[in-house]
Amino acid sequence: MKILVLNGSPHVNGNTTAMVNAFKEGAESKGHTVEVIQVGTKQVKGCLACEYCHTKGNGKCIQKDDMVPVYEAIDTADMIVFASPVYYFGLSGQMECTLSRFYPYPIPKAKKYALLLSSMSPGVYDGIISQYKGTVSYFGAQDMGIITAHDPDNKSAAKLAEVKKLGASL
Ligand SMILES: Cc1cc2nc3c(=O)[nH]c(=O)nc-3n(C[C@H](O)[C@H](O)[C@H](O)COP(=O)(O)O)c2cc1C
Repeated sequence: MKILVLNGSPHVNGNTTAMVNAFKEGAESKGHTVEVIQVGTKQVKGCLACEYCHTKGNGKCIQKDDMVPVYEAIDTADMIVFASPVYYFGLSGQMECTLSRFYPYPIPKAKKYALLLSSMSPGVYDGIISQYKGTVSYFGAQDMGIITAHDPDNKSAAKLAEVKKLGASL
């Protein structure tokens, strides 16, 4: 299975990235192909709601920014993982922009999804999990797992083992 991981953190060695790396290791150990795109370090603008993609754009977005290679990856992914730090009880702005840019697809090809979240505090995930579950359901897809990490579990061996296990369970 081809798995696309969208990492919404701007930190290349941060807590979210540690979870992403553990997930990748687990999934690759079972023969899956994992592509990680760290959208948190890229220039992806939010959807303009211009409807170009649904009209004369014929499924293509009018904005030619760093989302272009993400679209290419989404086109062939069997599974998509959203990984993000929690910012004010929501996804990072970069991840939120990326998600809004799924708009050209009626339904993405991927039929499996997972969610990895890192925060400082516990109990801050309800809004994101609700958004994620609603989106997965809207896509007619299956949730394969949700893992959250807060301090002091961020980057802990136990938490990373849990994430690796999720990757290896696919
Ligand atoms: C702008 C901003 C907003 C944040 N909001 C929250 C929050 O609402 N709740 C929380 O527990 N942590 C919050 N945090 C902390 C991060 O979620 C936390 O440090 C996370 O582990 C960072 O992941 P990273 O290392 O991948 O960037 C916030 C951090 C930033 C920079």
